[in-house]
Amino acid sequence: MAKKITIIGGGNLGTAIAQGLVKSKMAKSTDIIITRRNLTKIEHLKKEGFQLKTNNIEGVKNADLIVLCVQPKQLAALLAEIVSSLSSKQILVSTITGITTEEIAGHLQKKTPIVRAMPNTAIAIGQSMTCLCAKDATSKQLEEIKNLFDGLGQTLVVEERLMKAATVLAASGIAFFMRYVRAATQGGIQMGFDAEEAQLIAAQTAKGAASLLLSRESHPEIEIDKVTTPEGCTIAGLNEMEHQGLSSALIKGIITSFEKINSIKK
Ligand SMILES: NC(=O)c1ccc[n+]([C@@H]2O[C@H](COP(=O)([O-])OP(=O)(O)OC[C@H]3O[C@@H](n4cnc5c(N)ncnc54)[C@H](OP(=O)(O)O)[C@@H]3O)[C@@H](O)[C@H]2O)c1
Repeated sequence: MAKKITIIGGGNLGTAIAQGLVKSKMAKSTDIIITRRNLTKIEHLKKEGFQLKTNNIEGVKNADLIVLCVQPKQLAALLAEIVSSLSSKQILVSTITGITTEEIAGHLQKKTPIVRAMPNTAIAIGQSMTCLCAKDATSKQLEEIKNLFDGLGQTLVVEERLMKAATVLAASGIAFFMRYVRAATQGGIQMGFDAEEAQLIAAQTAKGAASLLLSRESHPEIEIDKVTTPEGCTIAGLNEMEHQGLSSALIKGIITSFEKINSIKK
C-alpha cells in the first residue's frame, strides 16, 4: 500500500519536498497532504493532485509519515495542536533547523519515531545534500526516510551531535558556493565576458568540478594536479589565491558560522 504523507507547513521547503517526492516517483501527489494556515499561496498545487488542508489534526489522522516544515518558533504551538492525534506507528520527520529530536520528543505524549533531516535549498531541483539522524526509529524506519530523501539528492546518516555542522556545511554551504560563483563571474567580466556568459561559465565549471569528485570519488588535489601545468597559468593563479588566504578564509568562515550556530539561543 502506498504511504500517506502529510507535510505540515507548505512554505518553501514543504512544497519543494512535496514536488520533489512526486518528480522522483517516491510518492503520488494524491497520497500527499500539505497543510498551512493560509492556502492561497499554494492553491496551484491542487491542480498537481496534492490535497491541501488548513486543519493539521485532519492532516495527520491517516498519515504514515508526517513531515514538519514550519519555522522553529512555530513548532511548539504546532506540536501542542497535533500531539494527541499522533500514534506511535507514524514516523515524524522534522526539517526544522536547530531543534533536536530530544526536544521534539519532549513535546510528545507517546514514543513516536522521529527522524531529523537537514536538507539544503537545492532540494527544489532534486539536488539536496541532506543529513539525517533519528531517535526511537528502527533501522528500517530510518532507511525508509533515507530512501525518500535519496530521491531528492544525496543523503548521509550522521550522529545528532553533527547536525549543526551539517547545517553550516550543507545549508549555509549553498551561500558559500554561490559567493565563489559570483566572484568568478566578476573575474570573468573583467576579462571580457558579459555577465550572463561569465556566470554560465563559472556555474557550469563549479558543477563540473563537483561532478568530477562525486562521479569518480576522486580527491580535489588529484583533479587540481591534472590542470596545473608546470610554470602554467593555473598554478600561478591558484598559488596567488592561497597567498591571499583562500583556503584559510573558507575554513575560518565555516568555523565562524559554526560558532554562531552554537551560540544562538532559542
Ligand atoms: N528552506 C530551506 O532550504 C531549509 C533547509 C533546511 C531546513 N529548513 C527548515 O525548514 C523549515 C521551513 O523553512 P521554509 O524556508 O520552508 O519556511 P517558510 O517558507 O516560512 O515555510 C513555513 C510554512 O509553515 C506554515 N505554517 C506556519 N505555522 C503553521 C501551522 N501551525 N500549521 C501549518 N502550517 C504552518 C507557513 O504558512 P502559513 O503562515 O500560511 O501557515 C509557511 O508556509 C524551517 O524550520 C527551516 O529552518 C529550511
